[in-house]
Amino acid sequence: MKKTVKDVDLRGRRAIVRCDFNVPLDGDGKIADETRIAGALPTIRYLMEQGAKTILMSHMGRPDGEADMRYSLKPVADCLSAHIGRAVVFVSSPAVVDGAVRAAADGLGEGDVMLLENLRFRREETENGAGFAKELADLADIYVNDAFGTAHRAHASTAGIAAYLPAVSGFLIEKEVRFLGEAVEKPRRPLLAILGGAKVGDKIPVIENLLDKVDSLLIGGGMAYTFFKAEGFETGSSILDAKSVGLAASLIAKAREKGVPLRLPVDMKAARSFDNDAESAFFDADGLPDGWMGLDIGPKTVALYADEIKKAGTAIWNGPMGVFEMPNFATGTRAVAEALAASGAVTVIGGGDSAAAVEQFGLAGKMSHISTGGGASLEFLEGRELPGIAVLQDR
Ligand code: 3PG
Repeated sequence: MKKTVKDVDLRGRRAIVRCDFNVPLDGDGKIADETRIAGALPTIRYLMEQGAKTILMSHMGRPDGEADMRYSLKPVADCLSAHIGRAVVFVSSPAVVDGAVRAAADGLGEGDVMLLENLRFRREETENGAGFAKELADLADIYVNDAFGTAHRAHASTAGIAAYLPAVSGFLIEKEVRFLGEAVEKPRRPLLAILGGAKVGDKIPVIENLLDKVDSLLIGGGMAYTFFKAEGFETGSSILDAKSVGLAASLIAKAREKGVPLRLPVDMKAARSFDNDAESAFFDADGLPDGWMGLDIGPKTVALYADEIKKAGTAIWNGPMGVFEMPNFATGTRAVAEALAASGAVTVIGGGDSAAAVEQFGLAGKMSHISTGGGASLEFLEGRELPGIAVLQDR
């Protein structure tokens, strides 16, 4: 058991809190899904009530060490201010920490909240640079990690910083660990995992470990095409992680050896270009012509996957089945969400995109648990120790 904010004295002390505000933005730069912000509120409100001076920090997207203002956390500061009913102090520094930021931190009163600029404007963040970790630590007296969604990354703000400050968890990490721990330690069987989404390279290695835990696995979304390639199918101009084709082939073989059904889509909806209004058509998995890109699973796959979901005791879903942000390619993702909502299974939804999809379809209330973690929830379910949790003090 890790210490939490309840185990430390907070009044008048500066708490630097790592949150995961990596939220999707729409075309106008507005926050498209607030699930992760809502998830951080219990800890923030508790710190305010306890009279802490709260300094929040997060990344958004992957700006790769550049102060790219398209990834500024300003919209998050505005959204937080509205939720907590108090203006969040926000200094948009390209250096994340500088004199102005230090002065703002010095000026915080009890119950005040400030937010730093996107941590990934500094390359040292993802490199876990000790200098940057120390700069962050020097702003505060205590470190709180509540960024469950980023706990699988050993970065300056999730791991390095704990070398310089007493480190405890927030309520979101505590809740996620409790819920996901139960789902994986004593799952109601059969245990089904449904994996999709576009972060193919990140997720394919996870499948290897999941094969030791789950009773069956369904694949959809962007990663399916890497598996299709491994099966020798043409993938047209669909998203493809060419480096991972060999790995996908070995996973198919491993699943066969273990007798764990690993199901791939049998058909897809494809388009001429990455556009909601592009010409589209249905093709079997092994029949995608050149010049087409698969953007959703097809109706035969939907029927097969819905049937599998019906049989599950526990279903873990991570990653959409298609480009659900485009209405013409949202059918597969919606069908999976509806099948999960209608099933009697314990349903665990992981990942910003799957959580956003479930929210968009109005089905969030029908799921057992919606995790704020994508990669993090998968690595946790695999049984790996997450670096951002490992660094926290034990009780
Ligand atoms: C996520 O969205 O899974 C987390 O915020 C981590 O983001 P990353 O994959 O860019 O590290």
